[in-house]
Amino acid sequence: MRRVRNVPEFTPQVTFELVTLFPEMFDGLLTASLLGKAIAGGLLAVERTNPRDFGLGRHRSVDDTPYGGGPGMILRAEPMAAALDALTTARGPAHKILLTPQGRLLDQAKVRELAARPRIALVCGRYEGFDDRVGSVLCDEELSIGDYVMAGGELAAAVVIEAVARLIPGVLGCGLSAEDESFSNGRLEYPQWTRPAEFQGHTVPAVLSSGDHAVVARWRRRESFLRTVQRRPDLLLKVPPTPEEARWHSEWLSQAQIQGTNDAEASDDSVSAPQKR
Ligand code: ADE
Repeated sequence: MRRVRNVPEFTPQVTFELVTLFPEMFDGLLTASLLGKAIAGGLLAVERTNPRDFGLGRHRSVDDTPYGGGPGMILRAEPMAAALDALTTARGPAHKILLTPQGRLLDQAKVRELAARPRIALVCGRYEGFDDRVGSVLCDEELSIGDYVMAGGELAAAVVIEAVARLIPGVLGCGLSAEDESFSNGRLEYPQWTRPAEFQGHTVPAVLSSGDHAVVARWRRRESFLRTVQRRPDLLLKVPPTPEEARWHSEWLSQAQIQGTNDAEASDDSVSAPQKR
């Protein structure tokens, strides 16, 4: 029997409840690529609720001027509360997250934690800000995607959805790829190449064509570690070097010393990934 397209095959593993004044901002994200397929296949569900539908008065107002004065308008708590109540009544309770630059920084550990939750509400602010009680009273936690300020939480919510979705079994084509990647073990991912073997004078490290899987695996662990040392040494504070990594580190440092440079990648063939930064 032919399967009808877009009919969900599974119970969603995670349902995102978006609370946003601009639900149309998510149209492309939710229909394209792997995310679109995961939603069409029912692995993941995304619902949208607009606080404007719960706005006050004839104009369905959702904002007001700030107490104490100052520029711009502030989102009121009541329409947000009513939107959250409505989605809870319609589909059940959810873990409620407010997206704000003042929140805890999103990292892969948090993404993993969220991927285990069945229902997550992502509350997006706009305008100059929102009444502080939206976070402190209505939501369970506040998350930021980085130390910069956007005009609203929608793109931050999109980041959360995409990062969580790819951890859901079946969303990525290959089951291994979500494990074997940057941050999953406190290290950046090792570099990768595909054909051609030479591109604009830059060649692919010979070890990758050796056919020796153990040697390639060890080389990748070393690259992954040295890349982390060079680009994100802060990650080593969370997951300290293993004895094997500590050995690679001191070899790398002495090599750099011999060459009179701090950049060991300059001549060591095994760490000579052509890089553009
Ligand atoms: N809203 C505006 N800027 C943001 C950020 N950096 N993270 C999360 N939500 C936001």
